[in-house]
Formats: sequence, structure tokens, C-alpha cells
Amino acid sequence: MDERWIDEALEKTLDKIRTNVDAVGFRYPHVSLGGRYNDQGPEFWTSGFWPGILWLYHTATGDDAAKMLAIRLEEGMDRVLDGFVTIHHDVGFMWLPTSVAHYLSDGDGTARVRGLKAASHLAGRFNPAGRFIRAWNDKVQANSQGWAIIDCMMNLPLLYWASRETGDPRFRHVATAHSDTVLSSFRRGDGSFPHIVSFDPETGVKICNIGGQGYGPNSAWARGQAWALYGFAIGYRETGDVRYLEASKDASHFFISHLPERKVPVWDFRAPEGKRDAEDSSAAACAASGLIELSRLLPDGPDKEFYRSQGVAILKGLYDYYADWSGDQQAVILHGTVHYPAGRNIDVPIIYADYFFLEALLKLKGMKGLF
Ligand code: GLY
Repeated sequence: MDERWIDEALEKTLDKIRTNVDAVGFRYPHVSLGGRYNDQGPEFWTSGFWPGILWLYHTATGDDAAKMLAIRLEEGMDRVLDGFVTIHHDVGFMWLPTSVAHYLSDGDGTARVRGLKAASHLAGRFNPAGRFIRAWNDKVQANSQGWAIIDCMMNLPLLYWASRETGDPRFRHVATAHSDTVLSSFRRGDGSFPHIVSFDPETGVKICNIGGQGYGPNSAWARGQAWALYGFAIGYRETGDVRYLEASKDASHFFISHLPERKVPVWDFRAPEGKRDAEDSSAAACAASGLIELSRLLPDGPDKEFYRSQGVAILKGLYDYYADWSGDQQAVILHGTVHYPAGRNIDVPIIYADYFFLEALLKLKGMKGLF
């Protein structure tokens, strides 16, 4: 396949970010409304993605204004980390693309401590009876003491990083224990995963699956499948455990085989007729980056080429049909869905779609992602 479009897509995306350094500036975007990214505040779980885009952009271009803005945004998140009460399992989404990216870029000691504090919080959420990391907190979701969610697979690289950084395996033990529980209690025979699993927080016994942002307990929320395929690829990258590799491959096959021609899924692969009226481009962007990550972990051969080509095909679908270059829109990728069952932010551009689109394009150019 002619891949010249990859350079073109990357150049246009970097151009848009160049403009956004001033146009978006000191905001913590979640979704774009009326062509303009909103400011959801530093507490929200997506606050790390705009700084993450800035770090990727800085690494690709050397632009120091982007780096300075990313650091200011990271500092603006301190009151959230130190305030404690609003933070939950998503500290990986928040502090990997900010503080850990900062520390890995220039060795900043304060950034390192922020990353370790976030990792300690995540490890502290581990429930030893059920061997899972608790999702959310009472403020976000009442009575969720026994809940674990598939999204959390993407927070685990914070724990792997913390173990490497401190030489203390505890963080990694928590990450692998949680991953093993996801294998035993979430994973289905067809490679798909529910959004939420509820456990008895006292005994650790599984109670049931819960639909969450997906259609129902037995459905396959599209972004959840993307979190799984990428998260287990990271688990394999960090541990070499082939069970995680198999889980990532199976989740990838489920995702790929259910995609329509333009490569962007309906918000839930098993949404019934009448509820298939919203796509989720963010699931596609995350899956593309995950598939390319998976491919990079494999030895040369047909498998490696297969996962790369599937990731590239999804990116091409996003570039051809979902990207905006009109000049009227701050976001790159259109048509994401945040929470269909709750009717929240349906058919909008979402900041993490832009993040994973850029990350995937840069991986194709040999750069690493931030997860
Ligand atoms: N982690 C929440 C979501 O994917 O919407």
C-alpha cells in the first residue's frame, strides 16, 4: 500500500497542534463543542491528554513553547494530586502523559515525584481479597467499592514504570495481579470484555458484569475493547507474559473483525438495531495505536505485518473520513462518543482521539508513545 498519506496526515496534524498551542493554550480539554475545545478542568480523567499531545509534539518538532505549556498544565494538576479526594484509578491517564513524560524527557526531579505519588495512589487502590484495582470513588460513582473496569488496563504502565524507577517490584506485582483478574473475570471466549465487573469488596468473589458505558453486561463497548487490546499489549511489553500477548491478539481480532468498511466502529459492537446511530472514532484511534504497539513487540514475520497493517488501515479510515482540516475546528478527529447510555457527548470530537491518532502516526515514524 502507498503510505505517503502517513507523512501528509502527520504534517497536517502537527500543523494543527502548532496553531493550538496558542489557540487552546492553558485548558484541560475533554471534548470540542462548536469547533472549540472545552476546559473540563484538571480534576477530570482526561486532563493529561492535551499535555500529552504537547509532549509528543515537542519530541517530534523540538518546539519549546509546547514543552513550557505542557509543564504549566502539569503544575496546574498538583492541587488535584495533593488534594487526593477526587483522584481515582485514572491517575495513569493523568500523570503518565504529563509528569512521567516530563521526567523521561529531561530528568526533572519534581515530575518524577509526581509520577511516583500517582503510582502509589494507584497501587493503594488494590483490593487484595479480589486482586483487582478499584475503579472510581464514591464521589464519581457511589457504592463502587467492588468495581473494576477494563479501562484500568491503560493505567497499569504507571505501575510498571514506578517499579523500574524505584527498583521495587511491588508496583509491578499489583499490575500483574490486576491483569490476571481481568483475564479470569472479564475476558470472554470470543476475545471481548465487558466494561465493568462487580466483586464483593469483602470476599473478592465476582458478582456480575455491568454494562457501564457499553450497551449491557454482555455487550462489547467499542472503546473498552480498544483499552483491552492496547492494555494487554503493554502488559506483554512490560512482563513478557505470553498470556497477555494472547489476550491482546484475541481482543485485536475481535475488534478488527467487527469493523465496518470505514474502520470506525459503532459505539458498542453489540448495540442492537435502533441504537447503532453513533460511532466512536476515539475507539478506532486508540485501537490503531494499540495494534501498532502490538506489532512492534513481535518478531519479523506475518503476524507483525498483520497487526501493523490493521493499525494503518484504521488510521487511513480516520484520515480519509473523520479528520478535519477546515480551519474551523480545533480538534483533528471528529465523531467520537463519550457515553451513549447516559446520552453524554455523542458525536463529538474527543481529546483522546486526537492523542492516540497522533501517537499512532508517530509510532509509524519510529517514536515511542507515552503509555
Ligand atoms: N475511561 C473512560 C472512557 O473511556 O470513557
